[in-house]
Amino acid sequence: MDRIRIVGGNQLNGIIPISGAKNAALPLMIASLLTSDTLTLENVPHLADVELLLRILGNHGVDVSVNGRRETQNGMYSRTIHFTCRTIADTTAPYDLVSKMRASFWVIGPLLAREGKARVSLPGGCAIGTRPVDLFIEGLTALGATMDIDAGYINATAPKGGLIGAHYTFPKVSVGATHVMMMAAVLARGTTVIGNAAREPEVVDLANCMIAMGAKITGAGTSTITIEGVTSLSGARHRVLPDRIETGTYAMAVAMTGGDVTLAGTDITLLDTAVSAIRRAGAELIAVDNGIRVIGHGNDIRPVDIVTEPFPGFPTDLQAQFMGLMTRADGVAHVTETIFENRFMHVQELARLGARITLSGQTARIEGVKRLRGAPVMATDLRASVSLVIAGLAAEGETLVNRVYHLDRGFERLEEKLTRCGAVVERISD
Ligand code: UD1
Repeated sequence: MDRIRIVGGNQLNGIIPISGAKNAALPLMIASLLTSDTLTLENVPHLADVELLLRILGNHGVDVSVNGRRETQNGMYSRTIHFTCRTIADTTAPYDLVSKMRASFWVIGPLLAREGKARVSLPGGCAIGTRPVDLFIEGLTALGATMDIDAGYINATAPKGGLIGAHYTFPKVSVGATHVMMMAAVLARGTTVIGNAAREPEVVDLANCMIAMGAKITGAGTSTITIEGVTSLSGARHRVLPDRIETGTYAMAVAMTGGDVTLAGTDITLLDTAVSAIRRAGAELIAVDNGIRVIGHGNDIRPVDIVTEPFPGFPTDLQAQFMGLMTRADGVAHVTETIFENRFMHVQELARLGARITLSGQTARIEGVKRLRGAPVMATDLRASVSLVIAGLAAEGETLVNRVYHLDRGFERLEEKLTRCGAVVERISD
């Protein structure tokens, strides 16, 4: 199993190209099931989750053709993938694939919309909480679907003539359930109004792509999304938006190690709340042409309290990294997690590097220390593992991060991007 070895202490200086967003690429790829024409996606990141979803989509009948990766001047890659699903070959998403990645459950929306039925295994994914599917069931039921659970699978069936538009307000904000509801409603008969919708930029990206495919959607990015159903969608060409979580992660790494790095190919407006928290912690973040310049001082990190919330609040996917940054603050910071009940597994691993953190319910109290010391640590989930990497970059001596397959699910060419900026990071394959 691969490990990552880091020798901490170096500042980061240079350019880090930001990849296309994993959390946008996944639903966009799934939207290719909605049309028999070709959907072309540009800027698709090369990640384990993306490769797995390509296999899952292949199982449903999607032909995939990948244009070679081309490296541009500042190390940006551009990967374009064409998806064509002439006919749906199989409406079942089996356990062995869905259990590896929660987002693959989302195929239930387009399969139901286009074929009138879907049999999808209940999902797996990161072990960061119970992550139920009740909101998906309620939302699709509101569109007229019959939803039965049988032997670990959800059997969903649309009424004769297809799904029917409806007004439905989610009792809780869910990114995935909003994606699925939108993908189901675009081909439903009549008007759907989704209340308490997720407002994440990735929801807007999916809506924009489906609009380019001929869908009639307004309000994406607000809490109320209105969709006029159409009878069919066509192909389109769409560029995946930049990864705001990767952007925030590297900004925090620079804030922690010190240095001067330009995050290229990203957009500061995608992560206002996190940008403001990192600035309050003492780093300078400056919007530049097609990116963000981050100047970190490495020392004098100020303590900042954060609470995770649905967008536009502080993203739960940056919580572990921010806690990593706060371990070196001059004072006490509090980090409160409100989205996932079990998302503190990085705490005991950060403690191995010398961090002083105590947990009380959903809040972590972090008492900053002058220095962290390298140690062997274990990656537990995707975002937790990258928090260990950035803490390792700021720690004295050697840190070995075990179980890095979590990182490969969400961070493209991490070692290469960091090494180019002066970090000592290498992958060790046993
Ligand atoms: C997506 C992101 C993930 C991010 C999360 C929250 C992708 C591929 N993943 O995950 O990186 O951490 O948004 O920003 O985009 N819930 C229910 N019932 C449901 C569905 C969700 O109670 O049927 C709960 C979840 O347990 C959680 C909360 O709603 O407490 C938010 O989860 P949700 O927004 O659905 O997360 P994902 O879409 O799975």
